Amino acid sequence: MALAGIILAAGKGTRMKSDLPKVLHLCNGLPMAELVGRALRASGVTDCVVIVGHGADQVKQILGDKNYRFAEQKEQLGTGHAALMAHDALKDFQGDVIVTAGDTPLLTGEALKSLVEAHQDAHATCTVASFFAANPQGYGRIRRNDDGKPTHIVEEKDATPEEKTIQEVNSGVYCFDAQALFDILPTLNNQNSQGEYYLTDALAAFARNGKMTHAVVLEEELFMGVNDRWQLAEASRLLNQSILKKHAEAGVMIVDPNTTWIGPGVKIGNETIIEPMTSITGDSTIGRNCHIGPSTKIDDSDLDDEVKAYMSYIHGASMQKGSRCGPYAHLRPGAMIGEGAKVGNFVEIKNAKFGRKAAANHLTYIGDAEIGDNTNIGAGTITCNYDGFNKSRTKIGNNSFVGSNSTLVAPITIGEGAFVAAGSVITKDVGDDALAIGRARQEEKEGWAKRWRDKNS
Ligand code: UD1
Ligand code: MG
Repeated sequence: MALAGIILAAGKGTRMKSDLPKVLHLCNGLPMAELVGRALRASGVTDCVVIVGHGADQVKQILGDKNYRFAEQKEQLGTGHAALMAHDALKDFQGDVIVTAGDTPLLTGEALKSLVEAHQDAHATCTVASFFAANPQGYGRIRRNDDGKPTHIVEEKDATPEEKTIQEVNSGVYCFDAQALFDILPTLNNQNSQGEYYLTDALAAFARNGKMTHAVVLEEELFMGVNDRWQLAEASRLLNQSILKKHAEAGVMIVDPNTTWIGPGVKIGNETIIEPMTSITGDSTIGRNCHIGPSTKIDDSDLDDEVKAYMSYIHGASMQKGSRCGPYAHLRPGAMIGEGAKVGNFVEIKNAKFGRKAAANHLTYIGDAEIGDNTNIGAGTITCNYDGFNKSRTKIGNNSFVGSNSTLVAPITIGEGAFVAAGSVITKDVGDDALAIGRARQEEKEGWAKRWRDKNS
């Protein structure tokens, strides 16, 4: 059966004390609403509508229109009113719809799947995911009848002292028959202590109309809501720990789970060792038998098998099999490090193809370049790629040797098997197998130093 999703994300999130809408705050590297969206997609949701209000434009821009559609809730009149805003987008949709808040970043696809399965097995019109809360304060309480069927969800502010003792609470995540939901929502009223249209009243209305309502009990941690930055830090930590554990179970050595951060969606091969103080985020892939860290940050990058990266910052870059970088290397977007190549300490590479078994072992900047296979770049070499207005390219052939402290003024081409003498400023192309020397010739003044000392002492 077709499955749709609605993410309620119009609220302000006052307690974040931030200009950024709450659902865009990053939880272990991804906006909270994106984590919720991923969980929905993982559970089989194919059409996801985000209800936006506060910071609507920012939310739309950051989530993008590839995986989401958006519906605006201009005034925040309550969760029931918010869900109704998705009606236009889903008016032709036949099937079930999961409704959830956008600030519950620990939701998983498996949990949502079990909610939908329970809903479908029970042939229910409305199924609420509930949990038993150690401290139920603030949550809506689930009231069940003698047959165990849920009949009401009573908000904390509307609850009698007796209802307040109920420990089974509403997680804020539901599965509904979509058309039944959109039929019932306009009939709800806001006669309650908060003067809001409550989505929770949909369940009571269904139960009253003799429709099948159901509640499935899941684990509390899945539904942890984030209201302030301290809770966000805690949610990030919990999400990270569960990701680290999955990698460890799959054969990745996480040396120090307390200082290692791995984002959702990062892939790592087995036998790889991740040393302390390392973070790997974004759309990154790490191969097998790699050695990463300590103190390394990798974002949106692909590292092949057997790569070593020590104390480095790697973003938007790729490293082929057996290559290595660091300590203190900086691989920027478009750096492509060839198989078995060596990038040493204090080397920065940007938008450059660095050949197979090529080496730049110390103190070098390579930008907008193509460096051939087996080519050696001496310490202190700089590609001068920028004249203040334009970027120009440097091309160096295979098997070449650039002596230390050379300045390569782009655009420039250095041939195959060529040699650049140390300390050269190269402004003209160098042919294959040639030697280029671009520096002042050394002069020697015999006895000058002794004469100078004698005169001054
Ligand atoms: C809601 C439930 C409560 C449940 C709790 C779980 C209702 C009436 N109550 O309460 O039973 O235990 O979640 O966390 O639903 N939102 C909008 N537009 C609005 C109002 C809210 O988009 O007009 C969004 C918020 O941004 C938020 C979500 O809906 O993401 C939940 O709203 P919130 O006000 O936090 O609901 P609770 O009071 O926590
Ligand atoms: Mg509220």
